Amino acid sequence: MTHALFAAVLLGLVFAATPTTAQEDQSAAGLQVWRLSGCASCHGTFGQGGGGGEQPEGPSLRRTILDRDAIKETISCGRPGTKMPFFLKGAYTAARCWGIEVQEEPPAEMIGLGSLTPARIDALVDYLMTRVVGKNDEVTKQECISYFGNPNHPTCNAMK
Ligand code: HEC
Repeated sequence: MTHALFAAVLLGLVFAATPTTAQEDQSAAGLQVWRLSGCASCHGTFGQGGGGGEQPEGPSLRRTILDRDAIKETISCGRPGTKMPFFLKGAYTAARCWGIEVQEEPPAEMIGLGSLTPARIDALVDYLMTRVVGKNDEVTKQECISYFGNPNHPTCNAMK
């Protein structure tokens, strides 16, 4: 066996042996949801706050003072009177939002995508609570690499 191959096998064993908690798994699944749901277009890639331009400016989720429940409700139901869309499938029409009885249509003012199941929203909130909320606005290179899953991603190369 060549050294390189041996090293690769050994590395594989190390990774396979690294224990992951259920919450970490959820959080990895949540990162996928974050990436696919367009949150980053308003809130910035790392949830550090969006600069506006093409998309509405979304505030920093790293610095939010909301707790888990409030974050979940905001993502599920959107925030009335603002550009924050609702993401829960059946929000307003099958699930109560902001204490309003279910109704035939979401309120006209709400922008809604309604693209996510409750399980995907839970995973997304786990990701935010473990990796984003309360974290420094300054994203480290290591976080960047794990975000993109690529040690050579151009965005991360410039970081310390
Ligand atoms: C079209 C732009 C847009 C998209 C897409 C978007 N948001 Fe927002 N979001 C906003 C805006 C704007 C606000 C602030 C609303 C206000 O003014 O109170 C906000 C607020 C929030 C808040 C409350 C923050 C606080 O501290 O009050 C959370 C949490 C949040 N968004 C999460 C998400 C997540 C997660 C996604 C993706 C599933 C997402 N947003 C997608 C624009 C967006």
